[in-house]
Amino acid sequence: MFELIQQLTNVYGATGRETGVADLIETLLKDKVDSIRRDAMGNLICEKKGSDPNGKRIMLSAHMDHIGFIVAAVEKEGFLRVAPVGGVSVDASRTRHVRFANGVQGVIVQQPVKEGETPAMKHLFIDIGAADEAEALSMIQLGDIALYAPDCFRLGQYRVASPAMDDRVACALQVAVMQELGETRDTVIAVFSTQEEVGCRGAKTAAYSVEPDIGIALDVTCNGDTPETKLPAVKLGEGAAVKIMDRGSISNPELVRDLLAAGERAGVKTQREVLPFGGTDASAIQLSRGGVIAGTVSIPCRYVHSACEVIDLRDVQAAKELLKAYLK
Ligand code: CO
Ligand code: ZN
Repeated sequence: MFELIQQLTNVYGATGRETGVADLIETLLKDKVDSIRRDAMGNLICEKKGSDPNGKRIMLSAHMDHIGFIVAAVEKEGFLRVAPVGGVSVDASRTRHVRFANGVQGVIVQQPVKEGETPAMKHLFIDIGAADEAEALSMIQLGDIALYAPDCFRLGQYRVASPAMDDRVACALQVAVMQELGETRDTVIAVFSTQEEVGCRGAKTAAYSVEPDIGIALDVTCNGDTPETKLPAVKLGEGAAVKIMDRGSISNPELVRDLLAAGERAGVKTQREVLPFGGTDASAIQLSRGGVIAGTVSIPCRYVHSACEVIDLRDVQAAKELLKAYLK
């Protein structure tokens, strides 16, 4: 599983620029599913037919996009001014190594602020080593998106850190589930969605065309097991988290029950998750057409939306076994 996570976190895939990630996933799944297509939003939709023609249509959704910084202006001195794409924070980005799709690298820096002023996105700039505006514009264009430079390393025996763990760890999980699933009664549609970080836009169109009976988002969630953090009451290494609620959705209670029961059948640890903020593709899926039964299986993650998002491989394994048991 580590190798798959490493492979998927290494690919450039800013929000709205997910094609490279979709290309890689297509090569990983093309022999394992009955059909693969992409829609106009860039969603990769992989369908595996069930044996029962009257079976349900179950949609899984993991988002391919990764938050970043879009170039909004270039200064005379060659520094790039940026705007956020998704929930990047000033705190997490000071003096970080960033990279553009074309390989151009930079350092994102916060300029000094006046006394009493709160540092904001307007105080950040990217230094790409250009001497002036013309040289900068020969390297990048307005509208290019810089991401925290790819990285993926192990911490201790079970943990892995990467800037793109949200949500490539769930892309890896979803790929592994589809590779290992085998025959099922219901049809399973694995959607690798786009633009989740700016409002679950990909999942919205995918759910409309897929027409699922049940939708399950796969995403990271936060943790409550580091100093001075309490919510959600979710711990790394304690298993797959089954979401009860976040700010974007209230999970269907019967689906929550069935997912927890599947975890029990599979003999893996699960945790119940109540997140007072955040949201996943489930928020878009549940509101599609006449409404869809929806929920989320989460991977507990520390330091979400930083350059070092940390997960525990045992939780990914638990989520994989839970999902396979549920879909069987
Ligand atoms: Co996110
Ligand atoms: Zn996410």
